[in-house]
Amino acid sequence: MKPIRVIAAACSNMGIGKDGHLPWDLPKEFKFFIDTISAVSAPGKKNVLIWGKVSWFSCPESVFPIPNTVHVVLSRALSSVPEQAHHLCRDFPSAVQLASQGGLADLVETIWILGGPSVYKKALEHPWCDLVYLTDIMADFDCDVFFPHFDHNVFRKQDRFVGVPSEIQEENGVKFQFQVFKKT
Ligand SMILES: NC(=O)c1ccc[n+]([C@@H]2O[C@H](COP(=O)([O-])OP(=O)(O)OC[C@H]3O[C@@H](n4cnc5c(N)ncnc54)[C@H](OP(=O)(O)O)[C@@H]3O)[C@@H](O)[C@H]2O)c1
Repeated sequence: MKPIRVIAAACSNMGIGKDGHLPWDLPKEFKFFIDTISAVSAPGKKNVLIWGKVSWFSCPESVFPIPNTVHVVLSRALSSVPEQAHHLCRDFPSAVQLASQGGLADLVETIWILGGPSVYKKALEHPWCDLVYLTDIMADFDCDVFFPHFDHNVFRKQDRFVGVPSEIQEENGVKFQFQVFKKT
């Protein structure tokens, strides 16, 4: 068993994307995202990142390589592993199995779920999902994809969480706050 953790940023209407991209430009928020998904407890350890195909291809090339990470892209239509990725899986359970059994199992610490909405939904329903990192972007943006509803009685918002700044941030005139929800 490996912890499955969801990470996203959503604006006031829970929107997370528009036309295949992020609706906002918040470099500090993006750095927090990269730092969080690449953090491991010891050299040589890895995190598996599970990406939906659109999210994968929308990520700027300049971000790669992300230290300590193994990239798994989900797609039924692709026939080969995309450049910079490591594995292609046809469904969510295969990706979790890849990260938690066989050759990778000893190396992997955390399975991070990077979207989009249908992948988040699968993760939130998975019994190993213990934390949801969901940055509250305190503004309205026009969006066409949304973070799925989740039960706030099951995942409780933490007042403070180790390594996560609790104060409200501001960048490019947009206020935002890092939040962590923990499964009870
Ligand atoms: N704000 C945030 O934190 C955040 C985070 C992530 C993404 N986003 C935004 O969300 C949008 C992308 O989301 P999206 O819903 O359009 O696309 P997506 O989930 O990234 O990709 C959808 C594609 O991924 C594949 N896929 C997804 N789930 C699968 C599964 N369980 N099994 C097999 N294949 C699966 C399918 O590819 P095939 O059609 O090839 O089968 C599907 O068409 C973008 O705007 C992005 O910027 C925002």
